[in-house]
Amino acid sequence: MNEKGETFSNKELSAILEKYRGKRNGLIPILLEIQKELGYLPKEVMRRVADFLGIKPIDVWGVATFFNQFRLTPLGRDHVKVCMGTACHLAGGRLVLEALERELEIKVGETSGDGHFSLERVACIGCCMLAPVMLVKDKIYPEMSPFKVEESLIPYRQESKGED
Ligand code: FES
Repeated sequence: MNEKGETFSNKELSAILEKYRGKRNGLIPILLEIQKELGYLPKEVMRRVADFLGIKPIDVWGVATFFNQFRLTPLGRDHVKVCMGTACHLAGGRLVLEALERELEIKVGETSGDGHFSLERVACIGCCMLAPVMLVKDKIYPEMSPFKVEESLIPYRQESKGED
């Protein structure tokens, strides 16, 4: 579990689960709430959700892996998002995303082995005039291109070295 995950107590999980007691179709809202708290869905927590709902863990896993919005690994310290809304897609967002996958050596939805970077594609973030757009943490990088990717990541890599 990530730092936040370790502090996600049984009490907090129980509080989420109790809201859905006796409700059919509670699985997705429960998973969404847990992910909102932790940033991802730890396996142990998914097992507890299955116990609570009286379904098989494989069924929870199936839903968690079917929908793109669920993450199965913790976010990196520097979380990178690429907008794939219509304007950004048309302006070359896909190429930016592919360049990031190459540069970070991870695929969308993954976190680097050292826990530094994670990569996600997101829907329109509301600044289409700046397309294509990338975000690192909450900083917006406008009018991105594959050629700007490496340079954009330099401050985060340096910051990380400073922490070592
Ligand atoms: S489509 Fe990317 S900001 Fe709107």
